[in-house]
Amino acid sequence: MVELNTVIFDILYLLAAVLFIMGIKKMSHPRTAVLGNYLGIFGMLLAAGVSILITLEHKSIENNLMLPIGIIIGAVFIGTMFGAMLFTRVKMTEMPQLVALFNGVGGLASVLVAAASLFAAEPDALHAEVLVAGGLSGLIGAVTFMGSGVAAGKLQELDFFKKQLPIPAIVRHFLNLAMLVACVWCVYAMIGDGNVLLYLLICVLGCVLGYTLTTPIGGADMPVVIALLNSYSGLAASATGFVVDQPVLIISGSLVGASGIILTSLMCKAMNRSLLSVLFGGGMAATYEEDDGVYATVKRTTAEDVALMVDFADRVVFVPGYGMAVAQAQNAVSDLAKMIEDRGATVEYAIHPVAGRMPGHMNVLLAEADVSYEQLRTLEDINPDFDEVDIAIVLGANDVVNPEARKEGTPISGMPILNVDEARQVVVIKRSLSAGYAGIANPLFAAENTSMLFGDGKAAIQDISTALKDL
Ligand code: TAP
Repeated sequence: MVELNTVIFDILYLLAAVLFIMGIKKMSHPRTAVLGNYLGIFGMLLAAGVSILITLEHKSIENNLMLPIGIIIGAVFIGTMFGAMLFTRVKMTEMPQLVALFNGVGGLASVLVAAASLFAAEPDALHAEVLVAGGLSGLIGAVTFMGSGVAAGKLQELDFFKKQLPIPAIVRHFLNLAMLVACVWCVYAMIGDGNVLLYLLICVLGCVLGYTLTTPIGGADMPVVIALLNSYSGLAASATGFVVDQPVLIISGSLVGASGIILTSLMCKAMNRSLLSVLFGGGMAATYEEDDGVYATVKRTTAEDVALMVDFADRVVFVPGYGMAVAQAQNAVSDLAKMIEDRGATVEYAIHPVAGRMPGHMNVLLAEADVSYEQLRTLEDINPDFDEVDIAIVLGANDVVNPEARKEGTPISGMPILNVDEARQVVVIKRSLSAGYAGIANPLFAAENTSMLFGDGKAAIQDISTALKDL
């Protein structure tokens, strides 16, 4: 007969799963996202609490309760300390790297949990489906772990991760395929003789695959890879759920996996890329040489001149990019926008889907500065209107407004850009003429209707506000 406790635990697990689903649903809109986050946190606490109760109730540890309680408290303590340390030390601009590392750690956790379960299992409990799930967990988890590490290194712009693999693409694809086939063979052999040591080989091959698949990808393709790795971390957790027979892990992992796949497909659409071309076409990252001639006609401007332009404008569009995040200029922008609106002009914000370094980066920053959601315009929405915009103020954006994307043979070719060059006047605020993430020159800076306001984004916007006040 099923024990009452088991039924109660199952109901609580179901409740946790429902909370995850409701949380994800609420996160689909900025207004309800905070509530969604809380629902997810509550669901996770509930699932973890029930798992702890089940562990403590387990018959085999009844005689030695102190060990599991000690391990659980120790793990919670270490996790909390680590989280508190990250919370105080990691800068807002380092969040994308942190998210990439979190994905990687999620993958590693799946690998380790599946390993512990496989190695502790009695031989007759190692059914084919458990071994297949274990193999998937080891492979996807290890790819996620190593791939996310490489992605974090690329986002941190570390030189080591900018290097290309010294092997031709076709050889790389062949080696990747060979490693994948070897992993399938390992699962097949494990099912045949129950030798779970082969799981270790799968993990090693997964790590190498994670490195060789992610290293060649860069430039405009990075957002797609990050979304894909996020999805992998969920799929690895879901596979581990099958290994340890934990429905709530299967459900939560599937939710992360599915939402990651949806995000990947949105990113592919936003970048005008197919997933296959990203995964197998890598190699264009930052190899395009900068041409000094491009900048021969660059014009400088001053905060006072920009204030004058703004004073005469009826329609102003801010185009934020990664530099706004670096400068933490979002509040200054929102203050300037209010001053412009008070003078009777319309202010909007043009948001490119991959501006910044993580999905929704600009939306999060502008929401933090209380910018109304209605003022944010998507790329498809604003692009047809740019020829009616009096001033486009490009703040720390570079690749997402680079007309080179319209040409063949650059790392950002084919990526849709914000057509700011069609605005009547363009002001670009950045510290220098240096390149953006894709590492290429931007002819927009030297266009006839563009003036450059050199300086830190926040200081420059504050200077324009001061000058506007004095008019
Ligand atoms: P970027 O092309 O990276 O350009 C940012 C610009 O900001 C730089 O040219 C830099 O020029 C300027 N900047 C830096 N600090 C500044 C400061 N304190 N004040 C003013 N300007 C500052 O940014 P983007 O246009 O947003 O494009 C995003 C790029 O990142 C794309 O290539 C995209 O593919 C890639 N990426 C995106 C994601 C996601 S999911 N969004 C993930 C990975 C990669 P100066 O140094 O001259 O100031």
